[in-house]
Amino acid sequence: MTDHNSNPVFHVRPGGALSGRFRVPGDKSMSHRAVMLGALAEGDTRVEGFLEGADALATLATFRQLGVRIEGPRHGALRIRGVGLHGLSAADGPLDLGNSGTSMRLLAGLLAGQSFDSTLTGDDSLRRRPMGRVTDPLADMGAAIETAPGGTAPLLVRGGRPLQGITYQMPVASAQVKSALLLAGLYAEGETWVHEPAPTRDHTERMLTGFGYPVRRDGAWSGVTGGGRLQACDIDVPADISSAAFFLVGASIAEGSDLVLEHVGVNPTRTGVLDILDLMGADIELRHPREVGGEPVADVHVRARPLHGITIPERLVPLAIDEFPAIFIAAACANGTTVLTGAEELRVKESDRIAVMADGLTALGIQVEPRADGIVIHGGTLTGGTVDSHGDHRIAMAFAMAALRSSDTVTIRDCRNVDTSFPGFADLSREAGLGLDVEHHAPEAP
Ligand code: S3P
Repeated sequence: MTDHNSNPVFHVRPGGALSGRFRVPGDKSMSHRAVMLGALAEGDTRVEGFLEGADALATLATFRQLGVRIEGPRHGALRIRGVGLHGLSAADGPLDLGNSGTSMRLLAGLLAGQSFDSTLTGDDSLRRRPMGRVTDPLADMGAAIETAPGGTAPLLVRGGRPLQGITYQMPVASAQVKSALLLAGLYAEGETWVHEPAPTRDHTERMLTGFGYPVRRDGAWSGVTGGGRLQACDIDVPADISSAAFFLVGASIAEGSDLVLEHVGVNPTRTGVLDILDLMGADIELRHPREVGGEPVADVHVRARPLHGITIPERLVPLAIDEFPAIFIAAACANGTTVLTGAEELRVKESDRIAVMADGLTALGIQVEPRADGIVIHGGTLTGGTVDSHGDHRIAMAFAMAALRSSDTVTIRDCRNVDTSFPGFADLSREAGLGLDVEHHAPEAP
């Protein structure tokens, strides 16, 4: 049982190798969307493989507050008693989304179409993240959303405003913005079309289709027409490639490693990490590719192999956007230099991932040159040392894998948020061969 009152520190012993065959937890993006669309559907939706991590659980708790009956989760299984597009009711207080940007941004769109007001808030990290990227185009649709100064949360989403479909070209490639607008579009009069400057994850489009809601796709455009209905369906959430990424990197860099990760979602809008590791020389093979509920899935076999530095093609950046902390560890262990550009979005994730990774890599003896939109990493020898994850789950897990190649213990502070996306990370990585000990710390006084 997780102790929610502690802020764990990871101590990871140097060396070792990863082996075995296992399934990492369910996909976070799909888990959020399964709850949202299941709640808005007519009938009962059954979900398997739901991620029981804090972010997806925040979405689940929100829909309970909005009057939806949800049974579970029990071993990743949920039964959502859908209330239909117009069946939600006002919550009795603010909706606290914790650390979850996906919950907040998608809900801003979905709640803009309701007849009642809602307040969305979250933790310190989430209350620093930019929300204007969703509230501005939603305002163009007729939504009324009040933000804190600077366009951040808390958001007060006014209900009872008629929405109009819009045609919107996103200035940044963001699946959260696209999804927020498509969800608002379900409630809008006429058509809502969203253009993405580069491909981003398309789980919303695929899942809406699975719920029987027509989504039109035309090149970089996705569109919906308001006023339709969602029909309940069964959803099998595959393992999250973003969680698998830590093991893909760990097994690639640790000599003697040989791992199979089962039932991983390999939607082509998510597989940038496979392409980048492949360009770096990794030995990764997709076995038994199949399609499950409209999403491509495969078992992923990875074996250690020396990596070399590359210039990361910018077109792969949105397709690997959450995997850069892990990719930076691969780059630190590679021969030669890795150059990342076109990735300014990393500065507004759960932490400033360029700055926080640069500090951590430097603390472990790696030479880096952070830039406004990316970083240059010179592969080298990792010493041990102490790094601060700044409460960023993916940074904590990435540095845990770095110890496989360090000369001394790697200590990672502020690991409380690992549970947001990867409950059980410490146990699973220990079983796979990582020398990880968790020290529990009392929280700091406010
Ligand atoms: C997500 C989209 C991405 C990603 C996030 C999950 C989603 O964010 O980083 O972890 O589920 O739509 P952006 O849309 O801000 O790129």
